[in-house]
Amino acid sequence: MITKIVKMDSEAQNTEELEYAANILKAGGLVAFPTETVYGLGANAMNPEASTKIYKAKGRPSDNPLIVHIAQVEDMEVLAKEIPEEAYQLARTFWPGPLTLILKKQDCVPKETTGGLDTVAIRLPANHIARELISKAGIFIAAPSANKSGKPSPTKAEHVIQDLDGEIDMIIDGGKATLGLESTIVDLSSGAPMILRPGCITKRMLENVIGVIDYDPAIMGKNVDPNMIPKAPGMKYRHYAPEGSLTIYEGEMAEVVKAINLIAKEKTQSGSRVGIIATDETKEYYHYGTVKSIGSRKEEATIAAGLYAVLREFDELHSEYIFSESFADNSLGQAIMNRLLKAAGYHIVKVYEK
Ligand code: TXA
Ligand code: MG
Repeated sequence: MITKIVKMDSEAQNTEELEYAANILKAGGLVAFPTETVYGLGANAMNPEASTKIYKAKGRPSDNPLIVHIAQVEDMEVLAKEIPEEAYQLARTFWPGPLTLILKKQDCVPKETTGGLDTVAIRLPANHIARELISKAGIFIAAPSANKSGKPSPTKAEHVIQDLDGEIDMIIDGGKATLGLESTIVDLSSGAPMILRPGCITKRMLENVIGVIDYDPAIMGKNVDPNMIPKAPGMKYRHYAPEGSLTIYEGEMAEVVKAINLIAKEKTQSGSRVGIIATDETKEYYHYGTVKSIGSRKEEATIAAGLYAVLREFDELHSEYIFSESFADNSLGQAIMNRLLKAAGYHIVKVYEK
């Protein structure tokens, strides 16, 4: 299959290319498109064969449900039933934006789209191209991140091209995804609301609207009981895994730099390719291997936006060992550490002052 690749600027409206993409989706094809979080791989959510194509292209296990993207809040009622008041409050506050709500599904949503579950994940994205595409197609669009299963989510069209060129109908290049981490997922389908995946809409932001909300205990990293199964099926897979072995170093910054320099020196001297994940504030203090900054500690959003691209760059360099600094485990840092810890298979070294 030849994949049509088109560049679109963020103001795209009524262009022929948008029309073309909408027609592919209506006909049951696959189109990758930008969102404010990461690129999505879209298909008609109400067409079981179209959803099935997504799993095939991504190499994704069929029990891992898809997020359904809508263009207006009212569409929530077409897809979901028994919608609690909190869902409307969160939708009013954070949509369009990086928040996904899990609700009881209506019968019209095919099980192929929900991975066999009785619930449906719904998001109204903020990215202009994404919204124009959904409106123009006049359908709901199921879209997981547009990467091969097990790869970091794509934050640029070139990442999608690396993973899916030749396997899908079209890729819309709308520039860099501004946020860089997948949406926050909140389960409102039963009992007390719960965060199934941390993201740019933080726990505190949610609590300001609907009161106390907890994380799914199975996702909070280091101290997790391995027998607990996360409520979002996708969170159980070892996602975002770089090819090399990734280790996170945690502790006082100067000591972390010292420890990473020491191990990086040892590994490079024994002939291994080494990568270091640093920040704008620390990058000049590393002396071995390939050093890349993912952003500035003064602005955590830049770190969220840079993480996946840097993980992919180390794959391209075939780095055998990657050493990373760690990040504060609060607000946006919680989402960053959640992804980094998963990429590292929870391999973390605590550095203490000697
Ligand atoms: O930001 C995002 O959410 C991006 C963009 C493209 O919108 N999409 C995305 O999709 O990250 P994906 O498929 O990579 O991740 C969806 C996550 C998976 O962990 C999946 O298991 C979970 O959402 N999920 C989907 N439907 C669910 C449901 N009914 N119940 C629980 N978890 C669900
Ligand atoms: Mg994904």
